[in-house]
Amino acid sequence: MANTILVGAQWGDEGKGKIIDVLTEAADIVVRYAGGNNAGHTVFVGPQKYVLHLIPSGILRKDKTCVIGNGVVLDPVGLVKELDGLAKLGVAVTPENLLISETAHVVLPYHRELDGARELAKGKGKIGTTKRGIGPCYGDKAARVGIRVMDLVSPDRFAAKLKLRVKDANAHLKGLGAKPVSYKKILAEYSAAAEVIRPHVTNTVRYLHDATTARRGILFEGAQGTFLDLDHGTYPYVTSSNTTAGGACTGSGVPPHKMDKVVGVMKAYTTRVGEGPLPTENAEISDLLHGMGREFGSTTGRARRCGWFDAVATRHATMVNGIDELAVTNLDGLDTLATIKVCTGYRVGAVTFDHMPNDIEILALCEPVYEERPGWQTDTSGARKWKDLPAKARDYLKFIAEQTGAKLTIASIGPAREQTIFL
Ligand code: GDP
Ligand code: IMO
Ligand code: MG
Repeated sequence: MANTILVGAQWGDEGKGKIIDVLTEAADIVVRYAGGNNAGHTVFVGPQKYVLHLIPSGILRKDKTCVIGNGVVLDPVGLVKELDGLAKLGVAVTPENLLISETAHVVLPYHRELDGARELAKGKGKIGTTKRGIGPCYGDKAARVGIRVMDLVSPDRFAAKLKLRVKDANAHLKGLGAKPVSYKKILAEYSAAAEVIRPHVTNTVRYLHDATTARRGILFEGAQGTFLDLDHGTYPYVTSSNTTAGGACTGSGVPPHKMDKVVGVMKAYTTRVGEGPLPTENAEISDLLHGMGREFGSTTGRARRCGWFDAVATRHATMVNGIDELAVTNLDGLDTLATIKVCTGYRVGAVTFDHMPNDIEILALCEPVYEERPGWQTDTSGARKWKDLPAKARDYLKFIAEQTGAKLTIASIGPAREQTIFL
């Protein structure tokens, strides 16, 4: 496989896990490069459902190597729970098939407490984070006071660094009126987790460099989505990492000229979980999807906000990620509709936008300009080839791909592996 970066082209939960699992068949290595266990990537293998948070979705296929890259923020206790969950389901995870970067930053309990306390302090202006401590952990990384995986697995060093950090974090927590954390408790819990993960910890940058030299195919598993990117998203309603394609280089140590292709995953409609602008949000489609039991978050269980397909957003995603190919998921979610709207522009008064404004105050004022497309009102979930899809569904897919400005290569009409159409 050509080295492929897979990104979410919307606000996360586009179905990246499913597409990663499908594409992993042709890859040798799967690398997570950003985010932490705020992610929830769902993969079905037969009737068995797996939700991956930190471990790359490639782990479900035999003989593939999975890498948690340096750009990830890693909660070791969460990771051990995830490993235990996989073991119970019979998935073998070994130091051979899961490598963890020694320079990834560690999420600590005070990051989670600070995340929660800051959200509470923001009141109505909260971000709606997953409360996994992601923002405070990346904050410590940028402030150059973070604890890294190499520290965690070195007992004396970890004990000393942790002591200093707990003192500082408790001062911040006190200022926010939150309860302090216990150094002793964290030390015990994290030292136990460190023992489990130590055999997996290595210099993943060297490993990936050697792999590219040997021309092994690497799939870079994006987490979150383009509009949750710290630089390119709807700031401040974003996560704290670079979720876009550039993040795959910085978050793995593989240089840009070794990347061959960018695949953008998008739903046939739009969803977002948490606060922040969502121009095409719509009650009709929210009620429809929630009524079908769909669009509840895989990490926090929150109901996702739903809206019509937003081509202004996905066009922007094509631009900032350099998307070559598109995988459109959840087409089957639109199966019952007589008419489907697609947002092709934004309007504020007499001003029209064909791109995403950077200012979220302007974005909040944007009225979507819709084009209506006829629905196919046929169950698509049994389709296996392009020709099996109703003509109106094919037209819809062609239309949204054209509007997005990239080539449609995959259409997904259900969560299962076989519910995937390659073009
Ligand atoms: P990710 O975070 O991008 O990996 O996406 P999530 O796993 O959080 O959410 C996507 C949801 O859509 C999951 O429940 C998937 O099983 C499901 N899914 C993915 N593709 C399809 C599809 O084509 N049709 C249907 N019905 N479900 C899908
Ligand atoms: P996957 O990889 C959808 C959202 C949160 C919140 C914002 C900041 O499954 O697509 P954070 O906890 O990161 O500080 O929260 O980002 N968010 C996601 N939304 N899918 C995700 O991951 C997300 N990860 C974070 O809901 O709005
Ligand atoms: Mg998800």
